[in-house]
Amino acid sequence: MGALSIRKVKKSYGDTHILKGIDLEIENGQFLILVGPSGCGKSTLLNMIAGLDDITSGEIYIADRLVNNLSPKDRDIAMVFQSYALYPNMTVRRNIAFGLEIRKVPKIEQDEIINRVAKTLQMEHLLDRKPAQLSGGQRQRVAMGRALARNPALFLFDEPLSNLDAKLRVEMRTEIKLLHQRLGTTIVYVTHDQIEAMTLGERIAVMKEGEVRQFGTPQQLYDLPSDLYVAGFIGSPSMNFIPCVLGEADGVGVVTLNNGKDQLISLGQISDIQRPFVGKPVILGIRPEQLTDPASAHSDHPNMQILTAMVTITEPTGPDTLVTVNINGVKTVARCHPRAAGVPGQSVQLSLDPTKALLFDPVSEKRLA
Ligand SMILES: Nc1ncnc2c1ncn2[C@@H]1O[C@H](COP(=O)(O)OP(=O)(O)OP(=O)(O)O)[C@@H](O)[C@H]1O
Ligand SMILES: [Mg+2]
Repeated sequence: MGALSIRKVKKSYGDTHILKGIDLEIENGQFLILVGPSGCGKSTLLNMIAGLDDITSGEIYIADRLVNNLSPKDRDIAMVFQSYALYPNMTVRRNIAFGLEIRKVPKIEQDEIINRVAKTLQMEHLLDRKPAQLSGGQRQRVAMGRALARNPALFLFDEPLSNLDAKLRVEMRTEIKLLHQRLGTTIVYVTHDQIEAMTLGERIAVMKEGEVRQFGTPQQLYDLPSDLYVAGFIGSPSMNFIPCVLGEADGVGVVTLNNGKDQLISLGQISDIQRPFVGKPVILGIRPEQLTDPASAHSDHPNMQILTAMVTITEPTGPDTLVTVNINGVKTVARCHPRAAGVPGQSVQLSLDPTKALLFDPVSEKRLA
């Protein structure tokens, strides 16, 4: 059964088109992430799923039911907001119970539900406190508890961790993932943080300016981004984008990389989509970990390419060191073993995995598959 289906959904305020035709579909129990920069329309889309905002055109189905004309309370959803929206004068217990009272759930059943939720979220000892007596992470847990007290078809989260400090954010992220694994709930989760998106999502929709640029699994987005935007947005440090001209030698794509001297790099069999670009400018996309010191490289590929470059700066992260070099006039980051990171001002040898290198059209910005 489809848990959520969004078809050609648009939203406009007068002449301003906020959402320009969104199509998304997830199955029961899946964790969907909507990720993108501020203002791209994530909350607008979530609010339209929740019924807090009307749809200009298109259709939204929850559990195979068209919900366009249903009020929020009839949509079988529970929402957790960035602000938590707890009632300050009520205890945690009553904050969780409030929605149940409104729906006239019998008192005995209410108590059962509250105890179950409190146990799930490990906050039994907090039930008699008021929100002001809780830490940020605990408040966040209460907001989740209120959602969990229901048993909805769909959970909607709008940046629920953005008010927490970095350490707590990582802890709560793990808790949410565990909760999802344990309860098998269907979740739509909004964030602007690509790491949160990658670690939590089973499906990710990368949004920009009211459009979904790519919808796929975290691995698909990472390995085969559809365009320069997605390629640059997912992954940290970002993918390197090196301008070059595509050449061809015996059916193999080649590019020249220059750091002091020209070095010809073979990329692999040229595809039909790439062939028209021979002799033309392209963007070579390489993730930092695919450019590394030769000893750290996965040398199982027989065609591993070695290049020499001058080190500009080295930045240790602990397990490895980010080494910045200049290639074809752009800053390029390699991820090296700390002992093989080189010294600024001297040259270093780097190994490039040609099977992982991507090519993009600089005009359309699409990946040339
Ligand atoms: N009532 C409104 N009238 C006109 N424009 C609006 C209205 N509400 C939102 N917008 C615009 O719609 C766009 C999308 O807003 P939205 O809140 O969905 O962004 P977002 O992706 O959630 O951003 P953030 O990460 O900052 O929360 C923004 O440019 C915003 O200014
Ligand atoms: Mg928002």
